[in-house]
Amino acid sequence: MNTTRRQFISRTGTAMAGIGVGLSLAPRIYAQSKGANDRVVMGLIGCGGMGRENMKHFLDLGVPIAAICDVDDKHLDRAQKEITDKGQPAPKRYKDFRKLLEQKDINAVIIGTPDHWHAIPFIAACEAGKDIYCEKPISHSFVEAKAMLSAARHFKPVVQVGTWQRSMNHFQKAIEFVQSGKMGTVNICRAWITGQDKSMGHQTPQAVPSGLDYDMWLGPAPKRPYQSIRCHYTWRWFYDYGGGLMTDWGVHMIDIVLLAMQQDPTRVATTGGKFTMDDDRDTPDTMQAIYQFPKFTMNWEYRFNNQRGVDGGRNHGSEFIGSKGTLIVDREGYQFFPNGDPKAVEEPPKLERTESTHWQNFLDCVKSREVARSGIESMAKTTMLCHLGNISYECGKTVQWDAAKQDITNHGDVKHCISYEREYRHPWKLKMYKA
Ligand SMILES: NC(=O)c1ccc[n+]([C@@H]2O[C@H](COP(=O)([O-])OP(=O)(O)OC[C@H]3O[C@@H](n4cnc5c(N)ncnc54)[C@H](O)[C@@H]3O)[C@@H](O)[C@H]2O)c1
Repeated sequence: MNTTRRQFISRTGTAMAGIGVGLSLAPRIYAQSKGANDRVVMGLIGCGGMGRENMKHFLDLGVPIAAICDVDDKHLDRAQKEITDKGQPAPKRYKDFRKLLEQKDINAVIIGTPDHWHAIPFIAACEAGKDIYCEKPISHSFVEAKAMLSAARHFKPVVQVGTWQRSMNHFQKAIEFVQSGKMGTVNICRAWITGQDKSMGHQTPQAVPSGLDYDMWLGPAPKRPYQSIRCHYTWRWFYDYGGGLMTDWGVHMIDIVLLAMQQDPTRVATTGGKFTMDDDRDTPDTMQAIYQFPKFTMNWEYRFNNQRGVDGGRNHGSEFIGSKGTLIVDREGYQFFPNGDPKAVEEPPKLERTESTHWQNFLDCVKSREVARSGIESMAKTTMLCHLGNISYECGKTVQWDAAKQDITNHGDVKHCISYEREYRHPWKLKMYKA
């Protein structure tokens, strides 16, 4: 029988093609770290806004949180209090995620760190045999997404990415309706997020707050003097740590278009700029990206100066414009607008906001070993396609996409872009496993 390279790797479990590492965790295969029972015990890496939000969902589902890790003592304190308030014992506390990953009783971790700190803990968690609930966007750059995918294919953890709309019934029903063909042919889709935000202003460097290990917060990102607006929460408006709204919200709303339409784009062209905000951010405050698909086009738009939705209403959403009507879906529900005779189309029943079952779906999949709703393969794709939008903005060129190879074809135009690949600060390194 012909043994493919992939089969060989998965049988031997030793084919790490790692380029040097800054981590010393010995690679382990998932199954070896499972206890005799299937009780899920979790650790939280990154105890900020979304890390603790995810933790709360798992606490409500009765999951023990045995350890927490953050580089800021105040965030560790908050997470610890939330755990003990639920009647659970105080968790072990770490400032270095590598120590948390050594804890044998933990079989799954939540990664709730800023985007520049997803890839390294994710790959280390794969190596340590943990299942992973990882926040979106999976990565900070296109190449990181490839590296994370390579590790996940090699170690096969159960992965759930934090695109929790996928587990809301009304999003699922909206997608089913688009796919039913009842609204005719869909040739144009739109996805957007709009806001009316205040500028963050300009800051001179400040003293690092006590209790914050700022060097570890920066990690692989370039060394810069501390400014509070570059740190907790507002890091997302700086390319050193995030990708602006393209990756922050594009990953949510473009994802729904990709799921419903089941086509891969062939190219993307982006325009935008920093037109509104007089502050230190370096990501654009206004963006439009056009994605060309074989049978439709998709327009992604975001802006900060006017929160009126692209459809005239909702401030975020995904819209499908079909020959028999238009469907719009967002976190609050969906709406269908028939063309012409309203009786010509059998409308979907109205559905307002439904609860997300994303966290339960992860726990179910940890037990069954099935692919979770926001599994790594499909979320790597959504994330990469969002990076394409930022890459096109940065290089000012149309980015050509080969879906079969999951790769950009005009590499010469894009290789210098930071959304394509980032240089890591010493001693951090990105590992790439062979597929
Ligand atoms: N799914 C969603 O709806 C949703 C919503 C908001 C944010 N997010 C995602 O969640 C992630 C976190 O965003 P946030 O808004 O909670 O940011 P945040 O700044 O509030 O929290 C990040 C936390 O990570 C900690 N951290 C930084 N470096 C660390 C390290 N090396 N080790 C351990 N902890 C470290 C920070 O100190 C902070 O407590 C991002 O990827 C973001 O895109 C997802």
